[in-house]
Amino acid sequence: MDLFEYQARDLFAKHGVPVLAGEVIDTPEAAREATERLGGKSVIKAQVKVGGRGKAGGVKLAATPDEAVARATDILGMDIKGHTVHKVMITETAPEILEEYYVSYLLDRTNRTFLAMASVQGGVEIEVVAEENPDALAKVPVDANEGVSKEKAQEIVAQAKFPAEVADQVADILVTLWDTFIKEDALLVEVNPLAKVASGKVIALDGKVSLDENADFRQPDHEALEDKDAANPLEAAAKAKNLNYVKLDGEVGIIGNGAGLVMSTLDVVAYAGENHGNVKPANFLDIGGGASAQVMANGLEIILGDPDVKSVFVNVFGGITACDEVANGIVQALALLADKGEAVTKPLVVRLDGNNAELGRKILSDANHPLVQRVDTMDGAADKAAELAAAAK
Ligand SMILES: Nc1ncnc2c1ncn2[C@@H]1O[C@H](COP(=O)(O)OP(=O)(O)O)[C@@H](O)[C@H]1O
Ligand SMILES: [Mg+2]
Repeated sequence: MDLFEYQARDLFAKHGVPVLAGEVIDTPEAAREATERLGGKSVIKAQVKVGGRGKAGGVKLAATPDEAVARATDILGMDIKGHTVHKVMITETAPEILEEYYVSYLLDRTNRTFLAMASVQGGVEIEVVAEENPDALAKVPVDANEGVSKEKAQEIVAQAKFPAEVADQVADILVTLWDTFIKEDALLVEVNPLAKVASGKVIALDGKVSLDENADFRQPDHEALEDKDAANPLEAAAKAKNLNYVKLDGEVGIIGNGAGLVMSTLDVVAYAGENHGNVKPANFLDIGGGASAQVMANGLEIILGDPDVKSVFVNVFGGITACDEVANGIVQALALLADKGEAVTKPLVVRLDGNNAELGRKILSDANHPLVQRVDTMDGAADKAAELAAAAK
């Protein structure tokens, strides 16, 4: 889960990374009082989960409270790379920025380790530095068990060639940033720019944090950081039911067991759709290995609740949960939905293969549901589902 800058800044402050005071608001008028509280001038910063806000006009200085209202008016509602600005952060103005650096920690999956990155050429997009001047970006592996001590931080500082007068400060910041990274179970913490200001002090002026949702069970505070307004309502409903669901923009609803099978189902449906008015998959939904009738019902309920869905393809390869259990699950799920007054009105194409396929197919045939049809090959079923979706479009 990616955080907004103001949330990243709060976490930095909590772990001792030096940041500027500020508050987040969502109406232009609130910028006046916030700016007054900061001593009469401020920086207005768009809160969107995308980089390059400065270049896009989403970071503006205001010399007076009136100006802050005017700039907040400009920025609220602005579109930055497809993200609408609903909130702005009103923050202290950094006293004369002399230099801008870059520091980050991230999970380096390829090398199965953590990685520190640092550069004295910060402020700009770090990808550009990495591309045009790779020597200017130090990359230092960090052992997960050892972490970043002051010594390790000094090693990172030396490799990135930080000027001597800030070396000690930056090393201290690297230690507190590591604390943020580890104690918050983050996958990424990034400061860009880490700025040296007129007094010689080094401050984090912009932050990016991505949290590891697999650690939510031991991070009770993280739930409050979720951006509930932005969540797709179907995805939110699926999440509440513990389903692995991602909304896509096509018309064929997809349910399968196993992420790999569902991924290939998306491909097969997209391919089949080329012959049927270019219909596409409407979602990814993996109901997992041991799916019960209730899980099948939950999945069907989400997919049928998507107004874009015109047909549904249930693609199951029986394994530990055999096809007869899945078939019973489908039949019971249809009954469960009918009981709830949400009877299925869209055609379902079911393909069952694998463990106990024959028995599973028989159960579906015997149930003889008017909207359910069986097709026993994956390609054939995808074609049928695409054809039905095209016909209903
Ligand atoms: N509080 C601040 N005071 C003064 N200048 C700032 C402040 N915050 C950001 N800036 C300037 O604006 C630039 C862009 O801001 P930043 O927060 O990094 O947004 P983004 O990376 O999305 O463009 C920074 O590199 C810095 O020069
Ligand atoms: Mg930045």
